[in-house]
Amino acid sequence: MDTVISNIKPRVYNNNYTSLKELFVDYRATKRCLPSFNVNDNYDLKAVVEAAEEMDTNVMVMTYPPVAELNTPEVFRALVDGFKKISKNNIYLHLDHSTSVEQCKHAIDAGYDSVMIDGSQVSLKENIKMTKAVVDYAKPRGVVVEAEIGKIMGRGVEVKSDNDFLADLEEVVRLYEETNVDIMAVGIGTAHGFTPTEPKIHFDRLQEIADAIPIPLVLHGGTGIPDADIQKSIKIGMSKINIGTIVHTTYMKHAFEEIQKAGDSAYPPFIMKEVLPKIKEVVKDRLRAVNF
Ligand code: 13P
Repeated sequence: MDTVISNIKPRVYNNNYTSLKELFVDYRATKRCLPSFNVNDNYDLKAVVEAAEEMDTNVMVMTYPPVAELNTPEVFRALVDGFKKISKNNIYLHLDHSTSVEQCKHAIDAGYDSVMIDGSQVSLKENIKMTKAVVDYAKPRGVVVEAEIGKIMGRGVEVKSDNDFLADLEEVVRLYEETNVDIMAVGIGTAHGFTPTEPKIHFDRLQEIADAIPIPLVLHGGTGIPDADIQKSIKIGMSKINIGTIVHTTYMKHAFEEIQKAGDSAYPPFIMKEVLPKIKEVVKDRLRAVNF
């Protein structure tokens, strides 16, 4: 595995692709990973875009369902298009963790590059059904679809044993073969958010999955995963990593501090001018870990 990596010189992260699908196929083949950040509005979006520009890398920004609902997919699409005009690298827009086929279709109609239909909380049969419904709608429109199998822990997803979250190999293969989905998030031990102890990642299962299906795999829970584990996962076949909590907690913490400092004269552009560099700093730090 390591030999393959060292043969790829230089490891470039700003190539141009005709489509996101093409990028993912290339990234899986060359063991690279698209850094993907959950954003909430134009300000943290700007911070991510500027960080990616300064690090000269392609990047993906993702809206969780409440963000897509509050802003509307159309407005978020327009925001990203605005930033694309002043960026030299690619910025892709993704709907993250939607459990609604209708919401995925709405995002596709609004021009999202990629959507996730998360059927990890329902039966395999139901997961296949909803994933297939989104794939059938997305494929003719050239939009990438991400499915999930196994569970990402944290945020109300409680597990008692490894079997509760670990992606089952047979189910992985069935979900892939019966839906023809483009990329797949797999439960291998990571959790959303800050984790009190380092997540125990099941690299053996990840390797089995990577050997069993040819599509790019997605690593969720990027905030709490140590750099070495991120890089080991990428070498096995993780071609997209999701990073969210560190972005919004940095945003909220520094916005809160600045608002307190300013008191009654708090004015959004002045507040955000101070907050933006703090968000950029953490985004750059994660970009360094992913684009190694
Ligand atoms: P973190 O919040 O742990 O960074 O995970 C984000 C994520 O996986 C979104 O899908």
